[in-house]
Amino acid sequence: MDVDGKTRLYGIVGKPVSHSLSPAMHNAAFQHCGLNKIYLAFDVEDITGAMAGLRSLGIGGVSVTMPHKQAVIPLLDGIDPVAQRIGAVNTLLIRDGAIRGYNTDWIGAVQALEMIADLSAATVLLLGAGGSARAIGFGLKEKGVQVIVANRTLAKGQALAGELDCECCPLAEIDHLNVDALVNTTSVGMAPNTAATPISQTLLENIPAVMDIIYVPSETRLLREAKEVGCKTVNGMYMLLYQGVAQFELWNDCDAPVEVMREALFSRLGSSS
Ligand code: ATR
Repeated sequence: MDVDGKTRLYGIVGKPVSHSLSPAMHNAAFQHCGLNKIYLAFDVEDITGAMAGLRSLGIGGVSVTMPHKQAVIPLLDGIDPVAQRIGAVNTLLIRDGAIRGYNTDWIGAVQALEMIADLSAATVLLLGAGGSARAIGFGLKEKGVQVIVANRTLAKGQALAGELDCECCPLAEIDHLNVDALVNTTSVGMAPNTAATPISQTLLENIPAVMDIIYVPSETRLLREAKEVGCKTVNGMYMLLYQGVAQFELWNDCDAPVEVMREALFSRLGSSS
């Protein structure tokens, strides 16, 4: 693409960011839509300094990733109410020097899960109680879904369930549950520990839909075993895709080219499933 005096800059702010797939996804989308915009990765330690730079340089918007998703909140001029409840921001929209924070992680997770499950009147078992579980749990609640949290460290699971105003089930008792879908938000099964899985295959037999937020590998042991017993499955690439689609639509006054973004992401991970 041609960069000229009118090119608007977007990017991702985090540390580390050199592995990020977001530049490929967003630049493909900008190019496809004929937008005079580029998206770069910024390896940032000093988030306060970066925020001043974003304001004064007239940058259009950025993605925010670890370790800045919480630290950025006090530095904002405004925040979306759901992002406020989650307590984490992954997207900034900058207009006339004012920075507003959003969270599209939950939108990405909900849209990915909707590919395999009807969420109206659904009950979803959320495995894990970390930052990802928190964003997805609040997102599912936004959708009116009944959430049940299960976590290795029971006290952490109970704390999250308390905030979500939902049930917490000890891991040893999840075989008694009747749920419409399971979402794994733990890192169990992520490369390089691909032989690991967070729950045994026999427990999957009664769960119609299983989502893993892990995307490396594209098919975790959990998803492979879920498919074997007939569950519908979706991997973390779709959460990544749809959180990016929601970012694109915040930054631009047009629909995101979802298929172009999907192709940019999936081609980089050597998977088209
Ligand atoms: P993130 O922000 O990506 O969600 P996190 O905050 O570190 O990451 O949370 C990791 C989650 O994975 C936690 O729920 C953690 O369980 P604990 O609260 O018991 O630590 C879960 N987790 C990580 N490794 C695990 C393992 N080997 N077995 C079970 N759960 C695990």
